[in-house]
Amino acid sequence: MKSRNPIRLGMVGGGKGAFIGEVHRAASKLDGKYILCAGALSSDPRKSIASGKELGLDEDRIYETFEDMILKESRRDDSIEAVSIVTPNNTHFPIAQCCLDAGLHVICDKPFTLTSAQADQLIEKARKQNLVLAVTYNYSGYPMVRQARAMIRDGEIGKIRIIQAEYAQGWLSEPIERDGHKQALWRTDPERSGMAGCVGDIGTHAYHLICFTSGLTPKSLCADVSTFVEGRKLDDNANILLRFDGNATGMIWTSQVAIGNNNGLKLRIFGDKGGIEWNQEHPNELIFSPLNQPSQKITTGSPNAKIEASSISRLPPGHPEGYLEAFANLYTEIADSIMDARVGRFANTHTNTPSGYDGKQGAIFVESVIRSSSSGSIWVNL
Ligand SMILES: NC(=O)c1ccc[n+]([C@@H]2O[C@H](COP(=O)([O-])OP(=O)(O)OC[C@H]3O[C@@H](n4cnc5c(N)ncnc54)[C@H](O)[C@@H]3O)[C@@H](O)[C@H]2O)c1
Repeated sequence: MKSRNPIRLGMVGGGKGAFIGEVHRAASKLDGKYILCAGALSSDPRKSIASGKELGLDEDRIYETFEDMILKESRRDDSIEAVSIVTPNNTHFPIAQCCLDAGLHVICDKPFTLTSAQADQLIEKARKQNLVLAVTYNYSGYPMVRQARAMIRDGEIGKIRIIQAEYAQGWLSEPIERDGHKQALWRTDPERSGMAGCVGDIGTHAYHLICFTSGLTPKSLCADVSTFVEGRKLDDNANILLRFDGNATGMIWTSQVAIGNNNGLKLRIFGDKGGIEWNQEHPNELIFSPLNQPSQKITTGSPNAKIEASSISRLPPGHPEGYLEAFANLYTEIADSIMDARVGRFANTHTNTPSGYDGKQGAIFVESVIRSSSSGSIWVNL
């Protein structure tokens, strides 16, 4: 097998009516580095079969369960090499464990696992077998997020003082889970979502974005977590204060009851020489405000765009790139790591690509937020 041949991919979840599986499929296709060969696409076996047929998978490679897929694929000469996990949160750990045990690379959506202890187990399994273990914190794949990261690394905003991130959505402002809304049902169910609702679902994105761009990890936090919709079992809003080493301070606001907001993920970081601002709903712009100078808009085509940003843009400046392209950037970097692993090189080669380690940090964040809020919003160490 040639080491640069497309990766044979399997998928768990992402059947008819599911959300993120379709995005993963599109992202995996964009640069031609994967071929979707097999799937266990739904918790309902009939739906899995129907969904696989609709996608044009070979009928003998459409499976009723992920266990069946992993077992039967392992007997084939042309077996899948990697699996995308796009199922509700509580299933990530057992599916990833089963994949790694079978020697398959794993691309898992966030939040990675329900606990940091589970994340540790998966990281160790992947390490021992030199398998890729990637977590799709997809916002880190935007060119302007890479630009922000590179500018901070190069000292362009100086020593970091303040980090503010918010992820505001409004779609859970009413109890739509009671009407059977597919995506709301499991996200508001502690059995399937985990110990947190909004904090795990989108707060972890904001948290990863902070760590990824700033290069800092909070050392402590203090969380005020609320459930505004009556009868809901998990949080739908949280205000979280953060403290970092070196006196930097920060805040995350995460909400799914912020009426009028869709995917309002925003990041602002201020240092002693300048500040940067990024807004996911206008992802191709980064505002840079150097001390005592006018603010500048940096785009992928600007003369001051760094190679970290321009190298992952596919289109000439002015043609909008967005969510799918950013997702595809991660898929392509993950593919490079898998291709390295094929020839015995170290698997998680891309330092940009979120890995099991980042997934574990997300689990620690969730655990810490819940520990803080359930103890009366005290400061806790991460
Ligand atoms: N990265 C992102 O921006 C992003 C966005 C949305 C969702 N997500 C994450 O992706 C995951 C899925 O979210 P979603 O919104 O697509 O959910 P969804 O409810 O739309 O889809 C989940 C799919 O998983 C299937 N499924 C459940 N258990 C299964 C099993 N044991 N075997 C096979 N299939 C099974 C369901 O039948 C369904 O097809 C969640 O962990 C979520 O947090 C990430």
